[in-house]
Amino acid sequence: MSAHPRSPSEQDWPDQDWADQDWLDDPWTDAPESRRRGRKKPVGRRQLAQMTAGDDQDDQDDVIRRLKDLGHVTEIVAELKSGKEATAYVARGPRGSVLVKLYRDLQARSFKDDSVYRAGQVIIKDRDRRAIEGRTRAGLEMLQHGWVAAEYAHLWALWQAGLPVPEPLIGPHPYDYTATYPAVLMRLIGTEDHVAPRLSDAPLNPEQARSAWDQSLTGMAHLLRLGYAHGDYSTYNLLWWEDTVTIIDFPQLSTRQNPHFRDLLARDAQSLATSFRKHGIHTDGPSVLRDVQRRALGPAPEPRLLLP
Ligand SMILES: Nc1ncnc2c1ncn2[C@@H]1O[C@H](COP(=O)(O)OP(=O)(O)O)[C@@H](O)[C@H]1O
Ligand SMILES: [Mg+2]
Repeated sequence: MSAHPRSPSEQDWPDQDWADQDWLDDPWTDAPESRRRGRKKPVGRRQLAQMTAGDDQDDQDDVIRRLKDLGHVTEIVAELKSGKEATAYVARGPRGSVLVKLYRDLQARSFKDDSVYRAGQVIIKDRDRRAIEGRTRAGLEMLQHGWVAAEYAHLWALWQAGLPVPEPLIGPHPYDYTATYPAVLMRLIGTEDHVAPRLSDAPLNPEQARSAWDQSLTGMAHLLRLGYAHGDYSTYNLLWWEDTVTIIDFPQLSTRQNPHFRDLLARDAQSLATSFRKHGIHTDGPSVLRDVQRRALGPAPEPRLLLP
């Protein structure tokens, strides 16, 4: 538990654990009140569960088969982690070890309360907007594909800008990476036998803790300099390998166009501070934010050149 009381604005954020919330009660929806009230009742959770129950494993197998057919993956080595919305696999591909992040659950939290991140985005087609707002299966699939595309696009942008993120292995043209939906393929950090731990799990000595802290602040500053807030920045989304921090998990990255941008940034600063306490770093969100803003005025990393 956090030693400090959470700020009022923090308490209003979509909860990390969506399970016992009704996804119709979305405080962040950007739909006007009239439209929200008039909106047709979407498929309920139970119905949707029935629609997707049982085919989850088959769906995953299909995606993996497709990745093999496309030649992106030669072998799945192990299932690494099964999170709320994605399963991470360690795999092998033509260019070495691969992390396959397979989005699998259409009911996942992100698709329920992601409107805070999507705020400011425009959906051009009326029919698509209705499907998304109505949470039909097609609408949920659209959201999921949007999520996957966003993760690829952000990985490419950040990788090319020289940030410490995993190298995306498909793309950079969307034509290429749409073929791997709903999976995102990136370079594995660590090795097949010793996958890089998250900073939340890594045992750090005091010197390593200071270095990890410094790198994490700089990483957040690099994002800010490019106009991004990560949206889920904490030791849970920072990997530690050979004394180097790698930032992961980008689907919810937000730009300044997002009306909640400042709040997202402040929340990231707070999450970083809170999650680093176990490594003996004691500070607060506002101090982190000031430090990050100062660092963002400093030099940018060297951009990476794309190989032809
Ligand atoms: N490139 C990578 N190399 C090694 N491990 C990774 C990599 N990307 C993700 N992981 C692992 O997979 C887990 C899930 O990935 P993440 O992008 O954080 O998805 P989510 O939190 O939405 O499940 C991470 O916590 C991390 O342990
Ligand atoms: Mg994560």
